Amino acid sequence: MNKTAVISGASSGLGYELSKLLCQKYGCRVIGLARRKEKLDVIREELGENFVPFVCDVTKEDDRQNLFDFVTENGIKPDILINNAGILPEFACYTPEKADELRRVMELNFHAHVEMCTLFLPLLLESEHGAIVNVASSAALATLPGTAAYSASKSALLAFTESLSLEYGKSLFVAAVCPGMTATELFSSHEGSNLIDKFAPSAEKTAKKIVRRLRRGREMIVTGADAHLMSILRRFLGRPALKIFAFFFKIVKIPMFTGTFYKKTR
Ligand SMILES: NC(=O)c1ccc[n+]([C@@H]2O[C@H](COP(=O)([O-])OP(=O)(O)OC[C@H]3O[C@@H](n4cnc5c(N)ncnc54)[C@H](OP(=O)(O)O)[C@@H]3O)[C@@H](O)[C@H]2O)c1
Repeated sequence: MNKTAVISGASSGLGYELSKLLCQKYGCRVIGLARRKEKLDVIREELGENFVPFVCDVTKEDDRQNLFDFVTENGIKPDILINNAGILPEFACYTPEKADELRRVMELNFHAHVEMCTLFLPLLLESEHGAIVNVASSAALATLPGTAAYSASKSALLAFTESLSLEYGKSLFVAAVCPGMTATELFSSHEGSNLIDKFAPSAEKTAKKIVRRLRRGREMIVTGADAHLMSILRRFLGRPALKIFAFFFKIVKIPMFTGTFYKKTR
């Protein structure tokens, strides 16, 4: 492949595995973005000079501009932008107290990625094989209870991505990735996250699937049995599918979903 990719959220999980694959298997140069410098430095040690670590909080305009200046001043011509950084707050019922959290989630999971596309679009269009890959989620395909902020942010990102893909046609390859649950740090602060570590596929496996399908030119990539099931049921049953999922989580009492259902106190 031998391309240059800019990947956000490269310090762990899917971003790290995608960086590793692109550097080691496909000979790409990866500009890996994240806030934790120490993590990026360890990855640079592991992956060698194909991995260029760059500390960047993608929600900060100054950081994004520093990255853009670094790229242009060094004559780097990016071919691929992978907007992968993301956060998932603990699953909980949406209440007025959650309004600030919702804004923070939208800021990273949606607005920052739109800003990155805005900044890099002209450079990507100069590449013969320019590509934007936005990592959304199965939460954009079917909404689970307790995920108002996350699902809203990922649905917005999916719609933005689909629109870009229609508008740019053959001038730019634009893909959306909707992974199902994958064992990464995303859930580390969540109650019951050990279940995910036990049953969900590894980030390595998911990243391999994503790259394989991107190489086949797939513009919509769904990974994981849970994501496929959610997507199919939502498509065929419509809104009642969401009620079935919610009912299931309520009766099975999965620890992760315990705070998601509103209880009237009087
Ligand atoms: N794991 C799943 O089950 C799953 C399912 C569907 C979708 N996804 C999506 O996949 C993407 C990757 O998540 P993951 O599962 O690999 O989780 P992860 O291991 O927690 O990775 C998240 C990455 O985002 C980075 N990040 C967080 N805030 C940032 C910011 N403001 N600026 C720059 N980087 C930031 C983190 O690095 P620093 O902390 O060093 O900045 C980290 O590298 C996310 O968009 C997530 O929503 C994951």
